[in-house]
Amino acid sequence: MNEYASKIAPSLLSADILHLERDIKEVEKQGADWLHIDIMDGHFVPNLTFGPDLVAAVRKVTALPLDVHLMIDNPEVFISAFAEAGADFLSVQVESTPHIHKVLQDVQKHGVKAGVVLNPGTPVELIEPVLHDVAVVLVMTVNPGLGGQTFIESTVDKIKLLDKIRKEKDLHFEIEVDGGIVPETAGICLEAGANVFVSGSYLFKKNEIAVRMSALKEALKSK
Ligand code: DX5
Ligand code: ZN
Repeated sequence: MNEYASKIAPSLLSADILHLERDIKEVEKQGADWLHIDIMDGHFVPNLTFGPDLVAAVRKVTALPLDVHLMIDNPEVFISAFAEAGADFLSVQVESTPHIHKVLQDVQKHGVKAGVVLNPGTPVELIEPVLHDVAVVLVMTVNPGLGGQTFIESTVDKIKLLDKIRKEKDLHFEIEVDGGIVPETAGICLEAGANVFVSGSYLFKKNEIAVRMSALKEALKSK
């Protein structure tokens, strides 16, 4: 399998919270590669979602890698809790801490793969010093906080720049996109160099998970 094989990471934010296990089994059956779990604190973003207990509960019902996206202030306080809960990836918003290098080191010390996240208004240059230290760069393709928003086109240039830097410096990180991902925008991001595709509201449409998963896969076949 090539290093940057395309992967689909359904976002549990749009799953049916009272039937979470059912929805997880369904996306698993339809070939999901990772599960994306959005952690929001009501400070860094204007919404509240899940904590470490939810991650631990999900860990018990699936073997899929758990891709935990921290949209919280003071992420350093919560690294060990999410690591112990069973996160495979912990991605930290660069805007959420003045100590991004330290936090990413801490993630790795816990035996978890580290990711750094960029908001749509944050330039790639801000994370260049830590690109050696991450397994994933998550490019937000909407402003974080809510599912169901429209893909922001200007983020595509950042994906291209990250892909270019990765080649030039012989670095090895996956490029993940999150927000407004549907087959068309997935195809655009794939062309730009992304290989991990988070999908929430598009994928978790009642009775349509199977057909929507195959539409996404079809759009990702071209590479
Ligand atoms: C947004 C979250 C996303 C969200 C994406 O803040 O980070 O993971 O679930 O939802 P859609 O796919 O509906 O844009
Ligand atoms: Zn997310």
